[in-house]
Amino acid sequence: MSKMATQMSPLPASLAGKFKGSFAYNTIKDRLPLILTKVIDTLHRHKNEFFEEYGEKGIEAEKKAIAYLSKLRNELQTDKPLIALSDNLPDVTLWNQYLEYHKNLSNEPPSWFQSPWLYTECYMYRRIHEALVQNPPISNYDVFKEEKEHGFFESQQAIIILSTHLQELLKNIKDLDEKILKEELFRLIQVSLWGNKCDLSISAGADNSQKSNPLQSVEELKSFILVDHMEKLWSLLINKRKMDMQTATRLDIVLDNAGFELTADLVLADFLLSSKLVTEIHFHGKSIPWYVSDTTKRDVNWTIKQMQSANHKWMSRCGVSWEGYMEKGAWVYHDHLFWTLPHAFCSMAQVTPDLYAELQKSNLIIFKGDLNYRKLIGDRKWEFTVPFHQALNNFHPAPLCSLRTLKCDVQVGLKSGQGEQLTNTEPEWMIIGKYGIIQFDAAS
Ligand code: F6P
Ligand code: MG
Repeated sequence: MSKMATQMSPLPASLAGKFKGSFAYNTIKDRLPLILTKVIDTLHRHKNEFFEEYGEKGIEAEKKAIAYLSKLRNELQTDKPLIALSDNLPDVTLWNQYLEYHKNLSNEPPSWFQSPWLYTECYMYRRIHEALVQNPPISNYDVFKEEKEHGFFESQQAIIILSTHLQELLKNIKDLDEKILKEELFRLIQVSLWGNKCDLSISAGADNSQKSNPLQSVEELKSFILVDHMEKLWSLLINKRKMDMQTATRLDIVLDNAGFELTADLVLADFLLSSKLVTEIHFHGKSIPWYVSDTTKRDVNWTIKQMQSANHKWMSRCGVSWEGYMEKGAWVYHDHLFWTLPHAFCSMAQVTPDLYAELQKSNLIIFKGDLNYRKLIGDRKWEFTVPFHQALNNFHPAPLCSLRTLKCDVQVGLKSGQGEQLTNTEPEWMIIGKYGIIQFDAAS
């Protein structure tokens, strides 16, 4: 079949809660209501704090937010139609246009189980945010803050091991020969990959921190990497450094979870910058609390401060350097509203052309985590062997790479028979976070 014919063939169906027994169905039926219940509980437990800070107004706002969230949980559990947002934040028009678009697709109104899962799950987090936004003075309260901070503290030993390793490496970074440099890059990429096991959405908020030695785990987990394009990443970076020392090399990292994963990403970023494999790094986080553990600006600042003030020399050294990179502009933090819209990334150029143009300036974009992967390939039921490039469906702003542990039943770019064999030996291989991918697309 010609390339043209392949590209024009209809896209596969979206994952959705209407497929009974699917991972999407189980998530909407069991995990999302549980997350909502925990959010309600969190607000309830902080009642006194709201009172101390804002008096009666704080208590009133807490009550109203809880009533909103209880109603939301009921809408979800009874598969009610999705409704428009009304909180007047800058993304409301885009959300409501998306709802209209889905209304026009069928005679049935969009609803929690019937509509694409990617849409309804993102919608739930946006509605949680609306519950807070509509209720000042607690509008800016991050309902997932506690779990995120807990995840960081529970990973303390792993973070110490990793920062010590990084600081040892940085002592001789200028003299590292290429072989060692490559080995270390591969090690830290894998630490960042496996850091993605620690998300708090799959565990519905229960502790999911890094307990084992992350450097040792890299050796033990090698055989669980299903797609390994690290050599391609290395060639791209080292060739650019050798051939083009004069111009900047820009890396973008589209972040996922706070806690151990974010720390591992920052360690990787420090190594890449210090080794001059890249010269500037742009981080992309979420502008609102999202999928329980996703990173916001507050989480980045909090993490850097925690590192700085830690009672451990090398952790603290990391924190000081990282703040310095931010101040100098070698590291830049962005939180475009697109990342908390329900759209697949193939719509980015049309929905938010400014962000697409920004990403086009990059030499390499790393997308962390499961949700970013779902959005990269549109959360559709692709065959396992469909090329990654094709599943990206014209999303090619720059060379890109996904570092993701599998926690959802979509996967492309596998070898013929690889997916089927895994299904036979381990039926749940796509949803248990045991396997990972380092999957690259060259863009052109
Ligand atoms: O609940 C849906 C989901 O996307 C899962 O597939 C995954 O467990 C989680 O949310 C998000 O994972 P990550 O933090 O890796 O994006
Ligand atoms: Mg996440």
